[in-house]
Amino acid sequence: KKIHYFEEVSSTNSVAKEIAASEEEGALVIAEIQKGGRGRMGREWVSPHGGIWMSVILKPGIPLRHASRLTLVAGLAVANVIRDMGLDARIKWPNDVRINGKKVCGILTEAKAEVDRVDYVVLGIGINVNMDLKDIPESFRAGSTTLKVELGKHIRRVSFLQDFLFELEQQYISFKTQPFSHILNDWLALSDTIGREVKVTTPSRIIEGRAVGVTPDGALIIRKADNTKEEIIAGRCIYAR
Ligand code: BTN
Repeated sequence: KKIHYFEEVSSTNSVAKEIAASEEEGALVIAEIQKGGRGRMGREWVSPHGGIWMSVILKPGIPLRHASRLTLVAGLAVANVIRDMGLDARIKWPNDVRINGKKVCGILTEAKAEVDRVDYVVLGIGINVNMDLKDIPESFRAGSTTLKVELGKHIRRVSFLQDFLFELEQQYISFKTQPFSHILNDWLALSDTIGREVKVTTPSRIIEGRAVGVTPDGALIIRKADNTKEEIIAGRCIYAR
């Protein structure tokens, strides 16, 4: 599979989207630093030296409404690889991988579709690997961590990447050949969101209640104070307590 390596890019997701139409599934865009790294909901993603900033191009041929499932696939793969290193990685809906409540990885999934069929999906994955906390801007520092900080030693990024790509491929094969409930169950087992009181912010409103489950498309199910349930496909989730 093709690997497009850059010393510096604006955003690996943007590069991946530009080349996706002519690339084969599995092509990878990876960079040492991003100058315009993008997070979810229009946020900035700080991407200094020492991290892994990458985008994987996939062509799963699924309906657009299922594209968010791939975010769960990627989150599960990242969490599994970090757990194999002996760290207690957990997943916060929809896509943060955290250790001791601190974010170590974020995922930004972008898809292009033609009449509800996905042409391609770009899985953008950012992992804080070898940075020290001082490399993270002060405003993010409290809620973030890195693998080096958690393990107390430098990590070989190339072997981490090999392990991750192997794991992602396993999960992707399972995604394509098994009922999605397999992935969902593994994801649920590693998620620390279900059962919590949460506050989810979407561009149009704020929903508060208890997170009680995830739908097969990856939407969070919230039970509100009046006992009605709501499904939220995308938003920013805060644990209320
Ligand atoms: C988030 O948690 O808000 C998602 C962060 C996603 C960051 C990754 S780094 C590689 C890829 N390129 C980007 O510009 N963003 C994603």
